[in-house]
Amino acid sequence: MDKIKISVAKGDGIGPEIMDAVISIFEHCNVPLEYEYIQMGKSVYDQGYLTGMTDEAKESVERTGVLFKGPMETPKGGGVKSINVTARKTWNTHSNIRKFKTIKGVDTVFSKAGIPIDITVVRENIEDTYGGIEHYVSKDVAVSRRIISRPGSEQVIRAAFETALKEGYTKVTCGHKANIMKLTDGMFLDTFYEIAKEYPQLEADDVIVDALCMKLVVQPETFQLVVLTNLQGDIVSDLCAGLVGGLGFAPSANLGDHIKIFEAVHGTAPDIAGKGLANPTSLLLSGVMMLNFLGFETHAERIRTALYTVIDNGVHTGDFGEDRSKSVGTKAFADAIITELGAFDFTDLSNTYKPPLSLEGNRMMHSSTETIETVGVDLFVESKSSPKEIADIVNSRIYPDMELTTITNRGTQVWPSGSVYTDLVDNYVVRIEKKGGPEVKKKRFMEQAVDLFDHLRVSGIEMLITLDGVRKYSLGQGQGEKKST
Ligand code: NAI
Repeated sequence: MDKIKISVAKGDGIGPEIMDAVISIFEHCNVPLEYEYIQMGKSVYDQGYLTGMTDEAKESVERTGVLFKGPMETPKGGGVKSINVTARKTWNTHSNIRKFKTIKGVDTVFSKAGIPIDITVVRENIEDTYGGIEHYVSKDVAVSRRIISRPGSEQVIRAAFETALKEGYTKVTCGHKANIMKLTDGMFLDTFYEIAKEYPQLEADDVIVDALCMKLVVQPETFQLVVLTNLQGDIVSDLCAGLVGGLGFAPSANLGDHIKIFEAVHGTAPDIAGKGLANPTSLLLSGVMMLNFLGFETHAERIRTALYTVIDNGVHTGDFGEDRSKSVGTKAFADAIITELGAFDFTDLSNTYKPPLSLEGNRMMHSSTETIETVGVDLFVESKSSPKEIADIVNSRIYPDMELTTITNRGTQVWPSGSVYTDLVDNYVVRIEKKGGPEVKKKRFMEQAVDLFDHLRVSGIEMLITLDGVRKYSLGQGQGEKKST
């Protein structure tokens, strides 16, 4: 049988050291893989490739469908986006799977208390504030757009339930902040319970993310698999890493429908790079996840067992373990695993992996069939005037079929009612809505906005829509629901 080709990017900093260590273990085990080494990372960025990858690297990953990567440095300043995030987003690896499991020999508060931890965090990997869509809307106010889509939520939530089945979990928990972000996290939570219906054999529940953090620390054993949006998932997964001894022990897989990326969760560790001191455990465990994914179950299990045995025997790199036993370097740590594996003559031909079919063009994902009606417009207005002065300007020029319904500042209503105790910044949102009656064309809302341009410094415009008559925009804090007329 032919070997399976995978693309390998060693990365920056400690990346080459830990990748060489991991590959030496794979080669000892005759894992039937062929490694295509590709150029990605800071050095490639410095050569002028703004995505941090060469054209050959991109072609290789899109052909093999599997990227095994070391950590990569994000160049500082100049508005440069993270190479790691670019890779995840470009190839739509929508689901980040991180496993946190107690490792015998890695002392933590919980291991000492005899509390075993086995938690998987599935984090949405593309959307949320990681769109990095940010603008200054006035001198003092910057805005970030948080994008949550129904198809994107469906992808990660389905991946979460599928992972739970594979891992033998019985419960999937959705972490969210839908009590505050009613539309974005509300959509994520609704989608969670919709998809949960497809998996009646699994229990599904949800928890608000702040309570989740507290419960993870107090009762980690009550959680099995938790699925979250991107930023919340980022924070919660680092918290979980802390439960099992740190980022060095957490493997990570980024799964897309076509391309998968397996990588360590830690960074390039510039402080110890080139010294041969780095701990390869996180990358090795990510590699083991990759072997599982490719169908090399026996190789995966034997390597994982050898790693755990070596750690339990007290072999450790400088970042963990008993102070009493001397720490070893990266290569010696890998060699100890190889010695533990012993002679390895196993050939696993049972894999079922097929490289991705090449795609002709981007696919459009959509699920909505509702009727969209535009019912108003929010104008972002830069101003140091009072709310009443702004309201007077708008009301003196408002179209007869429209009304000014609210003015908010940092999300809090300051007109028609409000409090002098609400501190203001120099950016208001002025909401104009249709009065009721027949439909008003979107173009007319724009014309109304443009009419105000000579009198107000409008820095942005957002249309207000309903789907099948249901409001799809948030109210200001303190604003009541508009009565339909
Ligand atoms: P870091 O994870 O590189 O280092 C934090 C601390 O942990 C350092 O003291 C380091 O020595 C230690 N450490 C990390 N990995 C280790 C290992 N395998 N063995 C022993 N000690 C280890 O985080 P930092 O310093 O915030 O980031 C450095 C660079 O890495 C930045 O350019 C950042 O953008 C990049 N980065 C890349 C990631 C990726 O490729 N997925 C993830 C996180 C950061």
